[in-house]
Amino acid sequence: MRTVYVNGDYLPENEATVSIFDRGFLMADGVYEVTSVLDGKLIDFDGHAVRLERSLRELDMKTPISKEDLLEVHRELVRLNGIEEGMIYLQITRGAPGDRDFVFPDPETTAPTIVLFTQNKPGLSDSPAAKKGMKIISIEDIRWGRRDIKTVQLLYPSMGKMMAKKAGADDAWMIEDGFVTEGTSNNAYIVKGNKIITRGLSHDILHGITRAAVLRFAREAQMEVEERNFTIDEAKEADEAFITSASTFVMPVVEIDGVALGDGVPGRVAPRLREIYLEESLKAAI
Ligand code: PDD
Repeated sequence: MRTVYVNGDYLPENEATVSIFDRGFLMADGVYEVTSVLDGKLIDFDGHAVRLERSLRELDMKTPISKEDLLEVHRELVRLNGIEEGMIYLQITRGAPGDRDFVFPDPETTAPTIVLFTQNKPGLSDSPAAKKGMKIISIEDIRWGRRDIKTVQLLYPSMGKMMAKKAGADDAWMIEDGFVTEGTSNNAYIVKGNKIITRGLSHDILHGITRAAVLRFAREAQMEVEERNFTIDEAKEADEAFITSASTFVMPVVEIDGVALGDGVPGRVAPRLREIYLEESLKAAI
């Protein structure tokens, strides 16, 4: 049984509880982070902690725990649960005011709820899916306009994954005003020749921590990076495509809406970037 963290306590998962009045439960009024663990160490902890603070600030919530204490909780959960490879899920909500009300509760009297738990995923870094590549479909992006805030409103991304599954695919890329925004839970890229193309940062997409690292490593390896919008038709004609996220790292995409990219197998750039990302991230892991 897992040991999880709730509001300052480490508890067996079946003893950990949150109020029915919690605004995360009633209003999706909360933010989250997913940090991966490799070799028992945290990948890009700092990036996730900084983005967490930004998400909270954007929603007028105070950061209820210091970065140092948060790091300690992450490390303690990794230790208590013996995680070598996997993820740590963290969620902070506006707390449980004791009734349902659209108006935010007074932060002086209602403390935020903090929950963390581990997900053990042996073999995460050596995933067979990375060798095979993913099939994706395209769907309309009907999410709200602040996708840069990592909120727990994940119903549409969840429905998107179900649409993909129903269509025999692995995931979906979302499209707004004719351009790809991002994947249901990842950032989206295409490759043309040696050029990596991905949408620029704005309120339209999550500012992926893996995205930032991968683009930095790509530039350091003298690969060309272009941050601009692209259409799904351009993607279908690309040499390669891939996604990035804390739980998939870099994952090649080999089919879009039934159209095979190149030879229909992972190309040269995405697997190379995955290799570099895993190697460099491990070096910097804490
Ligand atoms: N998802 N875009 C969306 C919509 C996401 O949900 C995520 C992450 C990303 C990639 O961000 P990062 O590289 O920081 O993980 C992009 C996490 C992994 C999840 O929901 O499980």
